[in-house]
Parts: sequence; C-alpha cells; structure tokens
Amino acid sequence: MTFWNNKRVVVTGGGGFLGSHVVDLLEEENCLEIVVPRKTQYDLVHMKDVYRLYDDARPDIVIHLAASVGGIGANMQNPGSFFYENLMMGTQMMEVGRQCHIEKFIAMGTVCAYPKFTPVPFREEDLWNGYPEETNAPYGLAKKMLAVQSQAYRTQYNFNSIFLLPANLFGPRDNFNEQSSHVIPALIQKCIQARRTGQERILLWGTGEASREFLYVTDAAKAIILASERYAESKPLNLGNGQEIRIKDLLEIIQRLTKFKGKVDWNSEMPDGQPRRSLNISKMEENLGFSPVVSLEDGLRKTIEWYEKKVPGQFFECAVQGSSVLSTDLSL
Ligand SMILES: NC(=O)c1ccc[n+]([C@@H]2O[C@H](COP(=O)([O-])OP(=O)(O)OC[C@H]3O[C@@H](n4cnc5c(N)ncnc54)[C@H](OP(=O)(O)O)[C@@H]3O)[C@@H](O)[C@H]2O)c1
Repeated sequence: MTFWNNKRVVVTGGGGFLGSHVVDLLEEENCLEIVVPRKTQYDLVHMKDVYRLYDDARPDIVIHLAASVGGIGANMQNPGSFFYENLMMGTQMMEVGRQCHIEKFIAMGTVCAYPKFTPVPFREEDLWNGYPEETNAPYGLAKKMLAVQSQAYRTQYNFNSIFLLPANLFGPRDNFNEQSSHVIPALIQKCIQARRTGQERILLWGTGEASREFLYVTDAAKAIILASERYAESKPLNLGNGQEIRIKDLLEIIQRLTKFKGKVDWNSEMPDGQPRRSLNISKMEENLGFSPVVSLEDGLRKTIEWYEKKVPGQFFECAVQGSSVLSTDLSL
C-alpha cells in the first residue's frame, strides 16, 4: 500500500508544463483515478465551475497547480488579471476542498512571493519580511494568500493542506511562447532562432546581473509527490536545488549548448526583476528526504534537445517570416 492507493486525485493545471510531469509520476502510482480538469471544461476562476469539478471528480487529494503565469513581460502586462485569477482559483479550490472534507490539499506558491530584498539563500521564515519585487508582486502575493488560508483552515477546521514554494522551473514542455515565456525558454528560443537564421546579435532584457535558481521540472514534480505523501504542516516549504546563478552565466551555458556564436546586447532600460534569488532547501531535504538529481547543465541539454525536435529548423524558418505565426505556434 502506498499513500496513493485507491485515491481519487485531481491535478488542476495537469495539462500544463509542471502539471503534465506530476501526472506522469502519478500514473506510476496506484491511484484509483487521476482527473485533469482543463480550463475549457472548468474555469476555476468561477465558483460554480469549482463546485462542478468537486461534484464530478469526488477527489480525496487535490494538487492545485492551475495558475495564470508568465515571465516578467507577461506579469507587467497582466498584473490585474494575474492577481485576480490566481487569488480566486486558489481560494475557491481550497474552500470547496474543505467543504467536501477532502483528505489533503496541495497548494502551489512561488518564489515570487518572497520579499524583493530577502537575504540569500531565502529561508521560509523570511517570507513575510517585506514586499515582493514590483513586477511580479500581484502574482506572488495572490499565491501567498494560500499560505495564510492553509494556516487559518488548519487552525479553525483542522483541514490538511500544505503550501509549497518552488524556485523557477525549466525543462521539456515548458512554455516557449515569446509573449509569456520565462527566462530559460526565452533565452533558448532566442539563441536557436538567431543560429538558425544567421542573426549575429541578440538583444536581451535587463543587465544580466540578476541571479536566479532553477529547478528541473521532473525534480520539482518528484518533490511535489513526496511533499503530498510526507509533509503535513501549513508552514511554507521551499522546493529548489539551492544553486544560484547569474543570468549572464546562464546565458553562456545556453549559448554553448545551442551553438549560438553571435554577440549579446543587454537592454538595461528593461527590468531585471528581483535582484537575487536562491532558496535554502534544508527543510525540503529534511522533511521529504529528497535532493534534486538533475544538474542545471544536464537539464538545459535535455530541454534544448526536446525543443530542437519539437520545433525543427525548417518549420522554424517559415514561422519566423511571420511573427504572428511564430508567437502563436510556439506555445508548446
Ligand atoms: N514555471 C515556473 O517556473 C513556476 C515556478 C514557480 C511556481 N510555479 C507554479 O507552478 C504551477 C504550474 O505552472 P506552469 O509553469 O506549469 O504553468 P502552465 O504551463 O501555464 O500551466 C498552468 C495551467 O493552469 C491551467 N489554468 C490556467 N487558468 C485556469 C483557469 N482559469 N481554470 C482552470 N485551469 C486554468 C491551464 O489549463 P489549460 O492547459 O487547460 O489551459 C494550464 O494547464 C503554477 O501554480 C505556478 O504558479 C511555476
């Protein structure tokens, strides 16, 4: 018998990047049923759809990954909808889970919830010591409310929920849409596009001096599965690999792996986002008995291989000729 035996599991956002990897791992367990509600069937911003989902799926466990997400550009363009949609989805999913007496609710936070100037590496205790970096504050704060809700519901209703704080994720099936991608897919896409079309220079946002931490998506999925099984407190739990890297240094690795030999210009008028990001992962290691296994370089190699296969050169060159085709068709 494992934790998952005979359980009905709902994975919201299970058709997305992280969610699809979580579902892959759950399929190896003995769940009674895994339900992946898509937005077209259940728009979880609306309470009536949330009730309908619980009614249809009758879950024991809910892993709530559905979210409106994107890189700095998407956050700057959609601060209102990112705030509202993430707040409503999370709050309602947990509230109806409580009303239905489910066994456990797994809420997904984000490293964007940390204050802009948190001492590095970020410890969970520092989560409330300041306001997040402005470009992603609405998204980060909407998700952070799930930590409050989790604690409040545990105290008042003895409801079992946990709140996880993953670092920036990367890997195969990431979102490569130019308008909404995060930093790694954006850099990979720019380097490959430039190499394939013979462009000699690429232009990137910011100064390249900011730092980030990146967790390979299958390691993140494994950590979520283990946290569901082994962690039962409302205190936030970081999920990361504990390694900080400057964007400039990350770019050098990506240039080498994508074989882009041109020059890079930095547009320092555009924002860097949070100056530094790296997580203290000692609580994750202690509570889950887990450390990530995929290194940044191996993970980048796998992601690039996946992307080059998914978007072959011939297709890519056609797509580049019409940028509307490019941005639509690259939402992988
Ligand atoms: N990617 C990262 O670097 C990162 C870092 C930290 C935390 N996270 C968190 O990890 C989770 C997954 O992120 P991701 O990168 O995998 O995002 P993603 O690929 O964009 O997936 C998000 C999913 O949410 C679903 N969704 C969005 N709006 C919805 C709505 N109104 N109703 C129902 N479903 C809705 C989408 O469903 P459809 O596919 O059906 O449209 C999509 O599958 C999010 O909670 C995010 O905040 C991600």
